[in-house]
Amino acid sequence: MNYTIKIIQISLIIFSFVFFFSCKRNEEEKIINDVAIADETQSSDWLAYGRTHNERRFAPIEDISVDNVANLKVDWFLDLPNDVGLVSTPLVVDGVLYFTGTMNIIRAVNAVSGELIWEFDPEVGKVLKNKRQVGWIHNRGITFYKDKIFAATWDGRLISLNAQSGEKIWEVETFSPERALYITGAPKAFNGKVLIGNGGTENGPTRGWVTAYDTETGEEAWKFYVVPGNPADGFENKAMEMAAKTWTGEWWKHGGGGNAWHGFTYDEELDVLYIGTGNGSPWNREIRSPGGGDNLFLCSIVALNPNTGEYLWHYQTTPGESWDFNSNMDIILADLKINGKNIKAILHAPKNGFFYVINRETGKLVSAEPFVETSWASHIDLTTGKPVEIEGARYIDKPYTITPGPWGAHSWQSMSYSPQTGLAYIPTLHSAVKFSQNGIDTKSWQSIEFIGGIGVNMMAPDSSPRQYPASLQAWNPVTQKLAWTVKQDNFWNAGTLTTAGNLVFQGRADGKFIAYNATSGETLWTFDMGLGISAPPITYKINGRQYVSILVGWGGGYARGGLGAHQLGWSYKKHTRRLVTFSLEGTVELPKQSPPFFPKPIVPEDFIIDEELAAQGGILYGACFNCHGGGLFSGGMAPDLRSSAVVLNLQSFKAVLNDGAFTERGMPKFAELSDLQIEALMHFIRKTALETMPVYEKLISNMNANYDAAKTSH
Ligand code: HEC
Repeated sequence: MNYTIKIIQISLIIFSFVFFFSCKRNEEEKIINDVAIADETQSSDWLAYGRTHNERRFAPIEDISVDNVANLKVDWFLDLPNDVGLVSTPLVVDGVLYFTGTMNIIRAVNAVSGELIWEFDPEVGKVLKNKRQVGWIHNRGITFYKDKIFAATWDGRLISLNAQSGEKIWEVETFSPERALYITGAPKAFNGKVLIGNGGTENGPTRGWVTAYDTETGEEAWKFYVVPGNPADGFENKAMEMAAKTWTGEWWKHGGGGNAWHGFTYDEELDVLYIGTGNGSPWNREIRSPGGGDNLFLCSIVALNPNTGEYLWHYQTTPGESWDFNSNMDIILADLKINGKNIKAILHAPKNGFFYVINRETGKLVSAEPFVETSWASHIDLTTGKPVEIEGARYIDKPYTITPGPWGAHSWQSMSYSPQTGLAYIPTLHSAVKFSQNGIDTKSWQSIEFIGGIGVNMMAPDSSPRQYPASLQAWNPVTQKLAWTVKQDNFWNAGTLTTAGNLVFQGRADGKFIAYNATSGETLWTFDMGLGISAPPITYKINGRQYVSILVGWGGGYARGGLGAHQLGWSYKKHTRRLVTFSLEGTVELPKQSPPFFPKPIVPEDFIIDEELAAQGGILYGACFNCHGGGLFSGGMAPDLRSSAVVLNLQSFKAVLNDGAFTERGMPKFAELSDLQIEALMHFIRKTALETMPVYEKLISNMNANYDAAKTSH
C-alpha cells in the first residue's frame, strides 16, 4: 500500500471518529449538566449567570470584532411596557432566551426572532399584599440546570420551572415573607443542587445564610450561616464555633449580617462552591461587636463543600468591617501565570476598592492592589493577608471621609475577564462619604425589623476622590496594574461583556451602549437606547450569526433616587423598557424614546404648610425613600411624589397607603399609618415640592439648552 492511500485511510478513520464524537457531543450538549455549563469553548449558548461556571462573561466568538463592530445593527427587539427596573442577565439555551424582569416575571423568547414563547408570573404583588414595607423590585437573573429554570422572588420564594413549558414544578419559601428580607439575586445551580441567599442587612437585625435545595425535588439539602448566632443556643458547626471567637459583645442581638445576596461561583474543576458574603448588621462595628474582632465570615469569600455545605476555607477582604464593604461581588475563576507559576485563581473586586487574586486551591491570597483611591487602608499586607488600616478610618473619635463610599468601588454590576487579553473589565465607581458616629449611642443603638438602620451617620465627604464619578477600567490581574481606563460622567453604569472579537461591551446610565477595543479601550461603536442601561449584555451564536443582547431598563439600588439619579430624567414609566438584540446582519430600526422627563412639583397656592407636621412627615418618609427616592427626588423606580395628584387628597392618599390600592404594582400597603401621619406626609411632600421647584426649573432649562445644542450641531 502506498503512503498516500494509507494517509487517506487513516484520515478517513480519524474523520469518522471525530464526526461520530462531535455528533454525540451535540446530543450530549442538550443536557445542561455541570460539564456543559463549565465548557468555555461552546459559542451557541449563555448557560450560567456569568456565561459558564467560571463566571468570566467572555465569549469565544469573533464574528463581531474590532474590525466590523461599527456595523452592528438592531436585529430584533421586544418591548416590555409593564416593566420598570431591568438589571438581569438573560440565559440562552438551545435557541431560547430566558430572562427575568420587574416583579420577577420570567419570559422565554425565541433567541433568533424575539418571539415570546411563554411567560411565568410568580405574582409577587399578591404574596406581598399586606405584608412588607421594604424591598426592591429588581432581579439579577435565573439559573438553568438539566431541563429546568430556577428563579428566586423578591418575597423569598425559590421556584423551579419546566424550561420548555414555563410550568411550575416546585416552589419553596426560603424565608418567611413576614421577615424584612428580600431576594434580588440569581440562584446558582450546580451538581444537582440550587443555592440561594438573601439581602436585607440594613432592614433589621439579620443573620445571613445560604441554602441549597435539590434541583429535582426542592428539598433542602443543606444550609450555611454566614455569621455565628448566640453561643448559648449552641453552634451549628465547627466553622461557626471558630467564627464566634472573632466576635465580641452580644452581636447576635443585632443579627450580625453578612447576607449573601450575590456572588456565587461553582468551581466544576475542583468541585468547590465559593460564596461572597455581605457586610455587618449594623455597619458600625462599635455597635455590633464593641470589643473589636474580625467578625467572620463577614465580607469574605467562603469556600464550601457543594454536596454538604461544609466549610473548607475563607478569605476575608475587610476584617471587622464598618463601612458597608461587603464582598458580594463577582467571583471569577481564571488560570493565571504569575512569576512562572500556574495559578488557579479567583479574581474578586469587592466594594472596598482592592483587586484580589486568590489561589483557589489553597484559599491563600496571591496579590491585592487598590484599583481606586482607598482612604480606609493603605495596602494589603501579603504576609498576613490583611489590610493595613489608616488611622481614624473607623470614625470612632471624629468623622472621617471614606473612599470608596458605600456604593463601593465596584458593586454587583458584572466584571468580565478575557483570557485573550488577560484583562478584567471593571465597571468602577468613584465616590466618598463622611462617616460619623456623633450623636449615636453605640451602647443602646438597636435596629428594628422593617425600620432598619445602619448605626452610623453619613454626610457629604470633605473631598471627592476624582473629578468624575465612574469609569470603565481594564485591570491586569497578573501585574495588578491598570491597563486602560475610560472616564464616565454619570454614576451607576452597567456590567460588562468581553469577546474573542477583542471587544468589551458596556451600557451606561445615560442610555449609551458602547463597544470598546478590549486591548486599548478605544470606543468603536455607540448606540443610544434613549433610556438608562443597568443590565449587562450577553452574546450567543445561532445558525452562524452572532447576537449581542441586552435588557434596557434603568434600575438597581442607585436608581431609586436622590438628585444624582433623578437628574438623568428616567422618570417612572415614561420610557419603554426593552430587550434589544444586535447583529451585523440586523436591519431593524428601534423606535425612538421620548426625551428625558422631569416631573413638575405641584405647588398649590391654597395649601398652608404646617412646619411641625412636615417635620414628622419627613421622618415617616424613611419608610418610603427606598423606592420613591432620597429627598423626594425619584430616580424612576416609583412615581415622584412631589408631582403626584394622589398625595393632594387625604382620601386618595389613604386608599394607596391604608387600603393598598397599588400593591400588585409594587406599592406596599401601610395599614398602620394614622390619618394624622398621612397628613404629616402630605405636608412634608408639599414643603419639599415648594423647596425643590428651583431644581426642577434648572433641570428643564439645562435640558432645553442641550436640545438646542443638539439641533445646532446637526
Ligand atoms: C417597595 C417600594 C415602595 C415603597 C417602600 C413605597 N412605595 Fe409608594 N409606590 C411604589 C410604586 C412602584 C408605585 C407605583 C405603583 C403604580 O404603578 O401605580 C408607588 C405609588 C405610590 C403612590 C401613588 C402615586 C401616584 O401618583 O400614582 C403614592 C402616593 C405612594 N406610592 C406613596 C408612598 C409612601 C408615602 C410611601 C412610604 C410610606 C411609599 N409610597 C413607599 C413603590 C413603593
